[in-house]
Amino acid sequence: RNIAVIMGGYSSEKEISIKSGHVILENLEPSRYNGYGIVIEKGKWFCTKDSQTYPVDKNDFSITANGEKIIFDCVYNTIHGTPGEDGKFQAYLELIGIPHTSCDSYQSAITFNKRDCIAVLKPWSIHTGKHLYLNQGEEITMNDITDAVGLPCFVKANRSGSSFGVSKVYGMEDLPKALQTAFDVDEEIIIESFLDGMEVSVGVYQIGSEIHALPPTEIVSENDFFDYEAKYLGKSEEITPARLSESATLAVQELSKRIYHILKLKGIARADFIFHEGTPHFIEINTNPGMSKESIIPKQIKASGQELDKVLTSIIEDTIN
Ligand code: DAL
Ligand code: MG
Repeated sequence: RNIAVIMGGYSSEKEISIKSGHVILENLEPSRYNGYGIVIEKGKWFCTKDSQTYPVDKNDFSITANGEKIIFDCVYNTIHGTPGEDGKFQAYLELIGIPHTSCDSYQSAITFNKRDCIAVLKPWSIHTGKHLYLNQGEEITMNDITDAVGLPCFVKANRSGSSFGVSKVYGMEDLPKALQTAFDVDEEIIIESFLDGMEVSVGVYQIGSEIHALPPTEIVSENDFFDYEAKYLGKSEEITPARLSESATLAVQELSKRIYHILKLKGIARADFIFHEGTPHFIEINTNPGMSKESIIPKQIKASGQELDKVLTSIIEDTIN
């Protein structure tokens, strides 16, 4: 079987995605799969294998190497951000009929949009913080913001990842700068009340009709919150399994599976929560979560007693069949 591992993308998460892609390539079972790393850059899609570079034919997502046309049986998607996590690439693959490991285009578009994902989950009684949304050019006073969500609060780009465009704001005087930081990343922003409590992240995936939740990870950030530095430059402690009681662990795992089911996701996703006043409050769900060596999912798979290569095989086989 030929597996294309797609990585890169058009966003600031490109470098992380390349790392994620390499972890997947290294963990494809060689007896089953020929893995091809394909980098998706603006205007340029190419495959690098054995020190050779091959352009991708966008008509059928094939490559031609040494005169042989290679058609892919499955795409393993490790692009974070656009166009691989927001549904655009999923829609292309669905259109040309290549199975892919992430959730479908519609589900990807909804989940990548923090505002829309929260709106979809609202009628299902999932706890969240308070929110306020703002599009570029809309008028709002700083008092309107603090009246709605209080202080401290988080200001985030609505469609981004790896904490790009995110600030934690303590005082009203810091709001304008935080709004600008978020608007630099996206023309839509989301302002969220600060929830005091343990931050927990839970990997979820489906094989056949069964949804599995991995052991939760507790995030203890040295920085003010789990920002980019904390995520990738070692400025945080991630404790897997999280120091939660057995019942709290089960509760957050069940909630993660429920959210995955409600949103009709596929492949590996990772839901983020704050345990606030004893209840997990939903922050967001990442449908192409980081798979780099620093990332949470590979650690959770290990903590669950499984091997990453075997889990990837299950996901790929489930996707193809
Ligand atoms: N967006 C990053 C890669 C994550 O969710 O892990
Ligand atoms: Mg994210």
